Amino acid sequence: MINPFRPTAGAEPPQLVGRDGYLDEFIYGLKIRSGAPGLLTIMTGARGIGKTVMLNEAEYAARQEGWVVISETATPGFAGRIGKAAQNYQQELGEKPASRRLTGISLAGLSVTTALRPEEEIETRYLIEGLLQNLEQRKTGLLITLDEIHAADRQELSLLASWVQHYIRASLPIALVFAGLPAAVSDLLNEGVATFLRRADRIDLAAVAVEEVAQSYRQTFEPLKVVIEDAVLAEAARVTGGYPFMIQLVGYHLWRIAERLEPGAILTAEEANLAFAEARRRNQRMVLESALAPLSAKDREFLQAMALDEDRSTASDIGRRLGASKSTVGNYRARLISAGLVEPAGHGKLRFTLPGLRELLQGN
Ligand SMILES: Nc1ncnc2c1ncn2[C@@H]1O[C@H](COP(=O)(O)OP(=O)(O)O)[C@@H](O)[C@H]1O
Ligand SMILES: [Mg+2]
Repeated sequence: MINPFRPTAGAEPPQLVGRDGYLDEFIYGLKIRSGAPGLLTIMTGARGIGKTVMLNEAEYAARQEGWVVISETATPGFAGRIGKAAQNYQQELGEKPASRRLTGISLAGLSVTTALRPEEEIETRYLIEGLLQNLEQRKTGLLITLDEIHAADRQELSLLASWVQHYIRASLPIALVFAGLPAAVSDLLNEGVATFLRRADRIDLAAVAVEEVAQSYRQTFEPLKVVIEDAVLAEAARVTGGYPFMIQLVGYHLWRIAERLEPGAILTAEEANLAFAEARRRNQRMVLESALAPLSAKDREFLQAMALDEDRSTASDIGRRLGASKSTVGNYRARLISAGLVEPAGHGKLRFTLPGLRELLQGN
């Protein structure tokens, strides 16, 4: 049996831990097909918490219902790429767009990386509308998923939002599911870029319960026929902190050790500790260091000052430690929130979003 764990961004895990029922509202909406609240959903959460995987789940559920799916990431040109994909589907369905003749659309392949020109904007809107009318007749619909919207170009996002708003008003079968980092998504919505998106169902993904992780490990390791004591699996679950990326890393490295043992052999606590250390090291390298890499020296100093606190930090403490003014602290705070490294934790306090970040900063 091959290692079932998948410590890779967006990869389907062997078990989707702790997310039962999260998509119920969305799936219910797929049956109603137009105007149901779950058809407009935003997933938010820190890196590695499982946003992309949830988008994949939504896409799977939509396809099960016979829906057409366009899956995009919010890098420049996404509105054009969505239009191009809609056009491809429309051709596949063997019909011309219903409402308009296409003129001047020069979307070359799916590699569009530039914003639409004004005349293309209108054509693309009608093009998608044509597909939706076609799907409406077939009693299915179109799901668009858009990942990493924290990085989206504001204008492109408001363009997409205006299209979708229009389709919803026309009772067409459209669903839109977004994913992004929480604070940046909040900013996006508050800026009024796409006011109607504020009405979207918001699913805040957090770490899952450690007990559920232990339960999942018991089931996933079962077929290996190696003896792994419950205390070891409980410790493995505790090490993950319920953070999905760590669930995969710890599981993966534990599996690598376990699969080398003879059937019936016991996996010792020492061996398990090796797997935990490796998982922590990888999390540090793959998540934490890449999150820290683009930061300036000043950003890092700010985080170092925060790491002195055991739990949440207050702006005034940070300011004192750095010898910085209130407005300077405010600026760095905003930058680091947008970068997804820290988040507001009530009453002007801040905390780290990523597990292990404080420990990494404290260690050097
Ligand atoms: N509910 C879950 N249970 C177990 N593993 C998960 C779960 N959700 C995501 N994962 C795993 O966590 C990692 C990160 O998931 P991903 O969707 O890429 O996170 P994000 O998009 O939020 O950065 C992947 O390895 C994925 O397989
Ligand atoms: Mg992702």
